[in-house]
Amino acid sequence: MSLDSCRPSFSLGTESRYQRLLEAAPDAILEIDSSGKIVLINSQVEKLFGYRREELLGEVVEILIPERFRKRHPAHRAGYCAHPVIRPMGSGLDLWARRADGTEFAVDINLSPFSGESGLGVICVIRDVSDRKAVEEQVRLLNLSLEQRTRELATTNAELENRNLEVEKANRRKSNFLATMSHELRTPLNVIIGFSDLLAEQTAGPLNQKQRQFVSHIKESSRHLLALVDDILDLSKIEAGHLELKYESFSLNTAASEVLATVRPLAEAKQIQLETEFPEEITMFADNLRLKQVLYNLLTNAIKFTSEKGNVCLITESERAFVKLSVIDTGVGIPYEEHESIFEAFHQVSTTAPRSHEGTGLGLSITKLLIEQHGGRIWVESEPGMGSRFHVTLPLKTNS
Ligand SMILES: Nc1ncnc2c1ncn2[C@@H]1O[C@H](COP(=O)(O)OP(=O)(O)O)[C@@H](O)[C@H]1O
Ligand SMILES: [Mg+2]
Repeated sequence: MSLDSCRPSFSLGTESRYQRLLEAAPDAILEIDSSGKIVLINSQVEKLFGYRREELLGEVVEILIPERFRKRHPAHRAGYCAHPVIRPMGSGLDLWARRADGTEFAVDINLSPFSGESGLGVICVIRDVSDRKAVEEQVRLLNLSLEQRTRELATTNAELENRNLEVEKANRRKSNFLATMSHELRTPLNVIIGFSDLLAEQTAGPLNQKQRQFVSHIKESSRHLLALVDDILDLSKIEAGHLELKYESFSLNTAASEVLATVRPLAEAKQIQLETEFPEEITMFADNLRLKQVLYNLLTNAIKFTSEKGNVCLITESERAFVKLSVIDTGVGIPYEEHESIFEAFHQVSTTAPRSHEGTGLGLSITKLLIEQHGGRIWVESEPGMGSRFHVTLPLKTNS
């Protein structure tokens, strides 16, 4: 069937222009008569559906519809003929078309009624939208996985928040426990130390050699235990962020001299030369007590790990906005691979810290945390047998 037969009243020139227009259209266009028969198609229909023109003309339009929709289609057609307006077909629905080979593809269809020779005719404009549908499907799947991912993230976040709260709670409980425990331990320990001091002084009567030795063990072990309790409490307080620094202005030289006075007897007991180099008077703004604790830890370590008649030296210098403290000894030294780990809690260099050195293994980790809380840094330079040089830098803040 040709266009001429549908538009007999048009002049030939205009008619062939319309025909060219029809053939040039990018969409498949077909005309259906009131009984659903195909009366006109352009060549896009042939290409799209894989039929030859003569195979389609005169056939009912259901030939182009997947079999599962065919039965209901005449009713839709009748519905349209009852209310013939220009409109998309099945708006909001996914429409499917069927090729000659039985394969299906997604389409958009626009319907326009017109009155043909044999009553109401319908022009169908069909567009293959499988590419657009594929992209839409991809977007839909992406959205789904994005939503899924967002839900998972929200769950993970909630879990993390819960876990954080639990960790915080556990930390608080740990700190409280340690504070209570250390108090409970300290009281009887001080009683043990006090009474063993009394025993050692033999105020309650003379002790024989063995008894003096036993009492000395009791004193030594209980003092060690007391130091351990104090250190653990300090460490847990700092780690839980519960240690508040009490900043004040003070003379570093005076603070250092006070610490030196307390450690001098330890050095003298080992005939260790304790030297100082304070080239200038330095005023610091820091926690005085905690800074003295740092110096005490470094100096007692230096004395502890230096053999008799050795040397220990404390140097203080100011370098622009920093103060540098160095504790240098001629002791056993520390292997390079231990330079970081000695600052970890309970880490003692096995080769240099035999049982006789005692100590808790917590001094340096507390020292490091205190320095870092002040905004400073600590590191060591050392080699076995060559002594050690511990360096600390602290911001030289002023309270002005
Ligand atoms: N001046 C030093 N010379 C050699 N080794 C040291 C020195 N200072 C620290 N160390 C090593 O680092 C370890 C950790 O030190 P520290 O945390 O103060 O614990 P402690 O003194 O209780 O053993 C020591 O056991 C020792 O092995
Ligand atoms: Mg120590």
